[in-house]
Amino acid sequence: RTIKDLGALDGKTVLLRTDLNAPMSDGRVTDDTRLRQAADSIRSLRAKGARVAVLSHFDRPKGRRVPEMSLKPLAEPLARLLGETVTFADDCVGEPAERALANGAQVVLLENVRFHPGEEANDAAFAQALAGLGHAFVNDAFSASHRAHASIAGIADHLPAAAGLGMEADVAALEKALTAPERPVGALVGGAKVSTKLAVLEHLVDKVDHLIIGGGMANTFLAARGIDVKASLCEHDLLDTARAIERAAEAAGCTLHLPVDAVVARAFKAHADTRTVPVDALDDGEMILDIGPTSVAALTAVLAEIRTLVWNGPLGAFEVPPFDAATNAVAQAAAARTEAGSLLSVAGGGDTVAALAHAGVKTAFSHVSTAGGAFLEWMEGRTLPGVAAIRL
Ligand code: 3PG
Repeated sequence: RTIKDLGALDGKTVLLRTDLNAPMSDGRVTDDTRLRQAADSIRSLRAKGARVAVLSHFDRPKGRRVPEMSLKPLAEPLARLLGETVTFADDCVGEPAERALANGAQVVLLENVRFHPGEEANDAAFAQALAGLGHAFVNDAFSASHRAHASIAGIADHLPAAAGLGMEADVAALEKALTAPERPVGALVGGAKVSTKLAVLEHLVDKVDHLIIGGGMANTFLAARGIDVKASLCEHDLLDTARAIERAAEAAGCTLHLPVDAVVARAFKAHADTRTVPVDALDDGEMILDIGPTSVAALTAVLAEIRTLVWNGPLGAFEVPPFDAATNAVAQAAAARTEAGSLLSVAGGGDTVAALAHAGVKTAFSHVSTAGGAFLEWMEGRTLPGVAAIRL
């Protein structure tokens, strides 16, 4: 359900769950993507005549009031983006919240919901206390919707509920990419460790035609094939698991792509001395820090074939040049295919968004989600409690 399913909102108070868990340094927001998304949904509700009470968590205060995790410093940047006054209420339930809303404020930012233990416990009384502040509930926090928390899940038991604009875009893009994709479909899964993405890989082999593995996790798959990856990052206790995933891919008709060459160095530092070698030709003490040009060419050929791409995780240690070369090249190739209208490209996760921004192609992808854990759980094929709550 979307905002238009809520009917007339004139004069009503809408509780809007956002994810204002934005990166901050010295009390200032360093990336305002999530604030902009919240501002878009606030604006659309204000245009319908609603007053908006903004709910969010910030960091992980574990049910206690931790002053450094207050949402107060976000009220002013949010007001600036909105061009409208944002009144801050220093509690999300009870007298402070009720007073701010009773005083006629049109946009109220409520204090961190995680200051209350009832939030993470999805406590029914806490959910009801939140719900009592408004007439309708809108969830615009896809990135927090893997949490069965009161302001995400329980609250929807008490109010008419719908998806906000960002949530709608996230869900629509992910459904197009994985539920009913245009085929062939490819998934590119990178990042450091297999252990954090096991469930993703196990789910994807049954869903996609091509599974491309990059980043440090590819080393574990190479080692599972008997290749000596020398000093490279490798989860040696997961070799059997990697072999099982390879077998499952084969049984499902999913082609697994591993790097065939690599950029290696003896130290992980900027502009270190590097060699480009086949993956089975590392010397003692060398480690793989990026995939090599022959592997990039092979991936570019896969990109030319597929119609849908889902990407999570960089191909190399992209934060440190020159180990950003493969991620940049493949991101640019995917962006070019997207811009030509021949590829639907969906990417998500903090590192992935940073890698695409670094490659200069963040806006060229069909959809880029700021969600981290929620994006991964979606890629695992799980139903997110926050999405389920607004579907009922
Ligand atoms: C995120 O930053 O991924 C979301 O805000 C969720 O945060 P959490 O992992 O603390 O629930």
